[in-house]
Amino acid sequence: MKKLKKLYEGKAKIVYQTEDPSKVILEFKDEASAFDGIKRASIKGKGALNNEISSLIFQILNAKGIKTHFIRKLSEKEMLVWKADRFNVEVVVRNLSAGSFAKRYGVKEGTPFKKPLVEFFYKNDELHDPMVCQDHVELLGLAPVEFLPHMKETALKVNSVLKDLLEGKGLILVDFKLEFGTLPDGSLAVVDEISPDSMRVWDKETGEKLDKDRFRFDLGDLLEGYKKILDRIST
Ligand code: TMP
Ligand code: ASP
Repeated sequence: MKKLKKLYEGKAKIVYQTEDPSKVILEFKDEASAFDGIKRASIKGKGALNNEISSLIFQILNAKGIKTHFIRKLSEKEMLVWKADRFNVEVVVRNLSAGSFAKRYGVKEGTPFKKPLVEFFYKNDELHDPMVCQDHVELLGLAPVEFLPHMKETALKVNSVLKDLLEGKGLILVDFKLEFGTLPDGSLAVVDEISPDSMRVWDKETGEKLDKDRFRFDLGDLLEGYKKILDRIST
């Protein structure tokens, strides 16, 4: 599949048109960004790792009947996906307190939840991704509201699949972010990426943080953490 015109460039990926109007190529960049683009760095090898981890996770989800935009991995840093109309909503699922939840609600990091929590955020760096409720989504036109229940249900299914996968490999899935959109056939699908950039994963034994928090808070080598996740989930 040939890469044609660049359609969009984000902080971590570039989207290219292909000869097929219903398919696009995602190229994963070596750029790391945190705090809505305030902290940035180029980390050689990150793009390839995120592409590999994301491709693996999308394949697993597709096989479980969870619809995603993933078609196939094309090369080290590229994947082929269905072209989607992406919603401006980020769906976060949490199993333990961390990050913005710990800060906002004053719950100690690492506190487990009785059941997974699903939150919606407005995808907007300038506004620092404010949290939104269903009425905000409708009023601001961030996504078709009729999809919200399906999005929540899908996010919980993804959580259950990922949590089981990681737990079986000695890893804790703390939280993660999903994006959704509609595919050319109008169906709802998980889009974007699912990688250590968009989830928190801790080692069950040591508590070591293996995800992008390493970069956010200078906790250690980013690639080393991402490689540990990949090694565990691919064996
Ligand atoms: P948070 O605790 O900062 O709200 O993040 C929750 C999860 O969502 C965490 O796994 C990191 C991920 N995330 C993104 O993928 N993109 C973002 O812009 C933010 C803020 C979080
Ligand atoms: N993804 C966001 C950024 O790139 C925020 C974050 O992950 O901390 O700035």
